[in-house]
Amino acid sequence: MPKITYHVGEEVVTVDAAPGSTVMLTAVQNDVGGIVAECGGNAMCATCHVYLEDGPVDELPAISVAEEEMLECTVSPRTPASRLSCQLPVTDAVDGLVVRVADEQS
Ligand code: FES
Repeated sequence: MPKITYHVGEEVVTVDAAPGSTVMLTAVQNDVGGIVAECGGNAMCATCHVYLEDGPVDELPAISVAEEEMLECTVSPRTPASRLSCQLPVTDAVDGLVVRVADEQS
């Protein structure tokens, strides 16, 4: 099962992620802090903002038009590493992914 590591402030949490889930859902289901996910994963709230830090980031899908629009609305600064974690599917190929949860989501 792929593992995903989340940095939340000073805390580092690595969890097993189920293929077919998303980086957002995996965080919520494992009580990883800092992700609000107000819209439930529909790319309509920008409260699941993470920064890609390490691992197989090239295995993730490109930013869609909808994600791009919402990334303009993040509370924490957007950087080239910014993604909406609800738009990041879990596959075996993302084993070892490391993300940092944005400090502020709303
Ligand atoms: Fe709302 Fe990701 S959960 S944009």
